[in-house]
Amino acid sequence: MSKSLKLTKDEEKILDGGCGEVAAKAMKLLVTLGEIEEASRLVPINRSQVAGVSYKTAGDATLELVESFASLGATARTQAMQNPAGMDLERWRDMGISEAFAEKQKRICQAYEKIGIKSTCTCTPYLCGNKPDYGEIIGFSESSAVAYSNSVLGARSNRHGGLDALAAALVGKVPLTGYLLDENRLGDIEVKVECELTSEADYGALGYFVGKNVSMDEVPVYPKMNVTHDKLKLMGAASAASGAVALYHVKDTTPEATRLRDLFKNGKPAETLIFDEQNKRRVYDELSSSNKCNLVALGCPHCSINEIREVVESIAGKHVNKKTRLWVFTSPTVYEEADKCGYIKKIRASGGDVFRHTCMVVAPLEEMGVTGIATNSAKAAFYVPRMTKNSCSTFLSSLHNCVSLATS
Ligand code: F3S
Repeated sequence: MSKSLKLTKDEEKILDGGCGEVAAKAMKLLVTLGEIEEASRLVPINRSQVAGVSYKTAGDATLELVESFASLGATARTQAMQNPAGMDLERWRDMGISEAFAEKQKRICQAYEKIGIKSTCTCTPYLCGNKPDYGEIIGFSESSAVAYSNSVLGARSNRHGGLDALAAALVGKVPLTGYLLDENRLGDIEVKVECELTSEADYGALGYFVGKNVSMDEVPVYPKMNVTHDKLKLMGAASAASGAVALYHVKDTTPEATRLRDLFKNGKPAETLIFDEQNKRRVYDELSSSNKCNLVALGCPHCSINEIREVVESIAGKHVNKKTRLWVFTSPTVYEEADKCGYIKKIRASGGDVFRHTCMVVAPLEEMGVTGIATNSAKAAFYVPRMTKNSCSTFLSSLHNCVSLATS
């Protein structure tokens, strides 16, 4: 372990308890991580996003920890937001969440709020007023938000765990390591796409394939693509889930790729990955354990306003059948905008619903009687069976096919 990490006088003061017990603990955690990762110093951040919010995944230990921090007067020094909770914080009864779960979930969110970490409860903070600038160093912990911020926005974040993102929010600093450094942001692996990508689910499948085939910390470089940010959101989320990809470049498309003279470490890729029709089919087969579902779930990562509009367009003139629910997940900010556009009303009139603050992965699906999910998100299709006690089956398909399943 390196001991080369240098602290300023103010940082030493925090470490010695001069700014309170919780800030000292937070600083100790950051210093320890910085030493392990051989950081030379800490650097300031103004934005955080903190995971470890859903009671389903965080449990009583997190509840007790965050409540104790709040009672000791801990205060965030950054613009900080919570990752999704296990339920819509207002309409949880409509999701079929129990009183017992809701009570604990509310306590977790309130404790974070008391610390100054907002209950926005989204994995898309960049769509909710917490959008980093190009080159800005931040402390996000949700893997898809890290991949999007690094790759699509050109900001700089490491993949923080819930605890170190909380510590970074409390101290307002992160160790200068990993993806914050120029040399770690160059490409390693070249990706060649030799099949058509026709839907958002196809982009997720591509991301999933790449994530599975690159090693930790490797940076994939995709070919030039005429692609929306929403599709990159799905692609990045999938590669972050299947293989911990925190940064990727798309030639002539993503901001760093358009600025860097040479995209690869040592001037050339260490390896080339080919995504063809056969590999695409394999991903769909791997992520589709059954075509039976009693929930069509869209919004992993949380839907943008354009994605909600696409749901409205694809559901127009149809009605959700009695066997299959159709739920759309989004952030409270996008929900408000969608409400103003009349989209929420239209989805509900078709028999679907829109929930905020949560998603199909971190909500307690068992409590809601969900046994099978159809989704257009490769990340959700990958995680849902691993996050449910009885391995809920999943089915990956495009938004239009998912909506057809719910309305046929
Ligand atoms: Fe977001 Fe939940 Fe997916 S937190 S990225 S919608 S797993």
